[in-house]
Amino acid sequence: MGPVPDLDDIATVCASRLCAADSVLLASHIDADGLTSAAIAATALERAEIPFEVVFKKQLDETEIGSIAALSHDTVLFTDFGSGQLDVISDHEQAGDFQPVIADHHQPADAETECHLNPLLVGIDGASELSGAGASYVLARALADVAKTDPPRANRDLAALAVVGAVGDMQAIEGELVGANGGIVEEGVAAGVLAEGTDLTLYGKQTRPLPKLLEYATEVPIPGISNDEAGAIAFLEDLGLDLKRAGDWRTWADLADEERQTVASALVQRAVTRGVPADEIQTLIGTTYTLTDEPTGTELRDASEFSTLLNATARYERADVGLAVCRGNRAGALDRAQTLLSNHRRNLSEGLDLVQEQGVTHEGHVQWFDAGNAIRETIVGIVAGMALGTDGVDSDKPIFAFANKSDEETKVSARGTGPLVGRGLDLSVVMQEASRAVGGDGGGHDIAAGATVPAGEEKRFVEAADEIVASQF
Ligand code: C5P
Ligand code: C5P
Ligand code: ZN
Repeated sequence: MGPVPDLDDIATVCASRLCAADSVLLASHIDADGLTSAAIAATALERAEIPFEVVFKKQLDETEIGSIAALSHDTVLFTDFGSGQLDVISDHEQAGDFQPVIADHHQPADAETECHLNPLLVGIDGASELSGAGASYVLARALADVAKTDPPRANRDLAALAVVGAVGDMQAIEGELVGANGGIVEEGVAAGVLAEGTDLTLYGKQTRPLPKLLEYATEVPIPGISNDEAGAIAFLEDLGLDLKRAGDWRTWADLADEERQTVASALVQRAVTRGVPADEIQTLIGTTYTLTDEPTGTELRDASEFSTLLNATARYERADVGLAVCRGNRAGALDRAQTLLSNHRRNLSEGLDLVQEQGVTHEGHVQWFDAGNAIRETIVGIVAGMALGTDGVDSDKPIFAFANKSDEETKVSARGTGPLVGRGLDLSVVMQEASRAVGGDGGGHDIAAGATVPAGEEKRFVEAADEIVASQF
């Protein structure tokens, strides 16, 4: 039995519909989870010998669903979105425009359709237990059974991409995937495509020379090492290990297990003696997911780095590059993605600097900043999430971030924390209600959500959101 048995029944119905289709339009979302969802679905459709085309959308609304209907495929498979727009989709279904199949994990709109695969419908948390890629993986497993084309490893090899999607959607709680996600990890390990381990959690273990790995590791600032090139080098040189090859610093991925242990313990030791709080030190070490079929020393080997690489493509209108990388087309696509990645990382760091310089405005129950044109609307949510808990940004209040979309429209991203959700916060409700109150629309998850509002309505939006958050606590 699979890790999510109730979803398997719905998945079988969805798979049967796809197998009966003349041609499928696969529509997906432009982030790491959306890309991995599309790659999983595309691979499974191809292996089932079902003809399909792929399109990506920044967000789904009436206009976008209309343009999807106009592409005249008899069946449309929505991945990593669709549930929030179920009302609009079911209108098209009733009008005979297309037959929908949805594999998603967002809060559903008030409507129903037969082929709707969503963890929230079976009591599984869509923000922490199953992502869009996870839902697509459950569908891929069902397609392997229904299509009878006998795909390799019964599509269980696609578990690796499902884990990249879940990690990209920040579903790992205290670093670890749990619930249905945990079941997918087990299937990936059994299929020989994944390894789960305990390791340093710093970003860049596969690709950064050791001093850079430590210098840039600002998630847990360690005095004398973080943001300190000379300090990081001195720390490594003092360990008495041979950490260079032919004069060049090695990467974490190049080290032997004992060498890693020596560096990691020394790092923890240094953090302790320099007074880094224990709860922060704990997060230095955590669960990591390795894609064992991918080459060592590339972003693709580590689920977290892989997901950042994907965000660097799709959120910059190059979903085609990310999809090609996910599907194993590495010739030009990986190079291109790596270039996009350095641009993305620079934008994130400049975005965080901006929040630090400009500060956030504190209301009674929420805090917010307006990035205007300074941060791209497709990444302002990532910056908001990273800013929570930094200087001047309270981790005890949800954060709202505005960015210009056009002269007429403003994007809002909202991010919360696990403890805030525990106290009653549901940002998907806040974003939907507060945006509708000012003539916009939105939705998402309890812990992270987004909306579009008419330009000029930001202030009224914050007031509405502040009130709703107050009533949720
Ligand atoms: O549309 P989608 O579900 O893929 O996007 C989820 C978004 O929510 C991601 O940007 C992710 O970073 C964010 N998120 C978060 N913290 C969580 C869960 C999700 O910031 N615990
Ligand atoms: O864009 P952002 O990263 O802030 O999105 C956070 C979450 O809210 C994502 O899961 C996204 O799909 C969802 N969202 C939504 N409706 C919008 C904007 C975002 O459901 N208008
Ligand atoms: Zn998602």
